[in-house]
Amino acid sequence: MPRVKVLFVCLGNICRSPTAEGVLRTLAAREAPELALEVDSAGTAAYHVGQPPDPRTRAAAARRGYDLSALRARSLESADFERFDLILAMDRENLTALRRRAPAHTHERLRLFLEFAAGEAPEEVPDPYYGGPNGFEEVLDLVEAATRGLLAHLRQRPRAT
Ligand code: 4NP
Repeated sequence: MPRVKVLFVCLGNICRSPTAEGVLRTLAAREAPELALEVDSAGTAAYHVGQPPDPRTRAAAARRGYDLSALRARSLESADFERFDLILAMDRENLTALRRRAPAHTHERLRLFLEFAAGEAPEEVPDPYYGGPNGFEEVLDLVEAATRGLLAHLRQRPRAT
């Protein structure tokens, strides 16, 4: 089975997309070890490049068993559009930024991550950076739901497109 490469994208790469990276890595290893995945995350803005995930993000993730401490923020680069099979934006603003920068032949790789969540999920993972602690729990709830849907999708098809 070809390796499927998944990139999560948010604004700063210190809250939502590293959460998704850590959750997918952990749940894939536990629940779908047969999938050969490459998982990464990046930001459309460069404010926090080189930094670990936000302490509030790390603490909320750790309470659910996800260790994000080794991750470091990076910004999206042109080569990402060629390298990854699925490029999953956390919200519409970041999807728009991706569409603006992506070469036309890679546009079908760009999606909203929450498209993979089953049921009544919203379209976007809200930015928790300037909000209260509940925002970080909401990010985890949405990311866990979409990750389970993404794993089901990837199990059904050898190539993600
Ligand atoms: P993220 O959250 O996009 O989920 O990493 C944010 C992090 C930092 C900022 C905004 C959102 N900021 O404005 O610095």
